[in-house]
Amino acid sequence: MTRPRIAVILGSDSDLPVMEEGLKVLKDFKVPFELKIMSAHRSPALVHDFAKSAEKNGIKVVIAAAGGAAHLAGVIASMTRLPVIGVPMETRSLDGMDSLFSTVQMPYGVPVATMAIGKSGAKNASIFALQILGLSDNKIAGELNAFKKRLEADVIAKNKKLKL
Ligand code: RP5
Repeated sequence: MTRPRIAVILGSDSDLPVMEEGLKVLKDFKVPFELKIMSAHRSPALVHDFAKSAEKNGIKVVIAAAGGAAHLAGVIASMTRLPVIGVPMETRSLDGMDSLFSTVQMPYGVPVATMAIGKSGAKNASIFALQILGLSDNKIAGELNAFKKRLEADVIAKNKKLKL
């Protein structure tokens, strides 16, 4: 089994049902990943230890999902040079706008590549992580090219089905 180059970090197990959508994408591409739960607020020491050791453990990209005062992705990005992709979780009180703003509004020097709120963000986070790996992995690059072709073919097929 190849060592995972993608780490998917969840702020809570309550984020898992949404993030499963993104994990499915990684599984479809047959790219191994590691999955961990840790919270910037409830278990900061775990976040610190993960972020400080991720690079030497062979991780190349981090996907971090959190909701509410969603500081997980930003805190990880503050402690590693690795690219961090943030997925804001939908929340009941503010529909995920709280998660989006607290993930995206990072200060200069500590970017988080922030995806859309919820499931579409979860899926695109995986595609974006694969695109980063694809820069230096021809197999993933080839599979992404085929994936993009399928997206195009789907649009063409939808046009053919249009009845005017
Ligand atoms: C965040 O708080 C988590 O990422 C989750 O989205 C949210 C609620 O967590 P739980 O109270 O369900 O554990 O830290």
